[in-house]
Amino acid sequence: MLPLRHALAVAVVHIFILSESWALAKNINFYNVRPPLDPTPFPNSFKCFTCENAGDNYNCNRWAEDKWCPQNTQYCLTVHHFTSHGRSTSITKKCASRSECHSVGCHHSRDSEHTECRSCCEGMICNVELPTNHSNAVLAVTRAPGTSGGPAPRLQVPGLPALVWASVLLLL
Ligand SMILES: *[C@@H]1O[C@H](CO)[C@@H](O)[C@H](O)[C@H]1NC(C)=O
Repeated sequence: MLPLRHALAVAVVHIFILSESWALAKNINFYNVRPPLDPTPFPNSFKCFTCENAGDNYNCNRWAEDKWCPQNTQYCLTVHHFTSHGRSTSITKKCASRSECHSVGCHHSRDSEHTECRSCCEGMICNVELPTNHSNAVLAVTRAPGTSGGPAPRLQVPGLPALVWASVLLLL
C-alpha cells in the first residue's frame, strides 16, 4: 500500500509542476526554441526567425515561419525601424546572403525621425534580439570558417511529460 501511495504522491506533484510549466508557457523563451527533428537539406543548413513588418519582436518571433534557409544564404538578417523614443514600428527578419549583410549598422532618417538598424548573425535561429544601436547592429559570426557546423545540438532529456507518464505507469 505504501509504495502505491508514494507513487500517487509523486504523480500529483509532477502533474502540479507540469500544469505550472503550462501556465508559464505564455512566456516563450526564444533562446530555447528547438526546431523539430527533420532531416537537414544540405550541410551547414540553418533556420532564421522570419517575419515581415511585424509590430514587435515578440510577435515576429512567435509566428516565425519554420523552414530551412536557401543554400545561397549564410546569415539571419534583422531590420528594425524605431522612433526616437525607441518604439519599434517595423521588424523584418529573414535568411540573407553575404551581400545583404554588408550594410549592417544604424541609420537615422532626419525627415521621418526614424532609425533603421540592421544586424546579421550566423547560426541556427540566431536572430532573436533586435538591433538598437551601433554596438548590436553588427554582423555576428560564430562559426569558424571551414568547420562543419551542422544542425544545432539537441539534448533529448526526459521532460516533465515523460516523468508524469512514468508516475502514471507506476500506479497501474
Ligand atoms: C545598445 O543597446 C543595448 C540593448 O538595448 C544596451 O544594452 C547597450 O548599452 C547599448 N549600447 C550603447 C553603446 O548605447
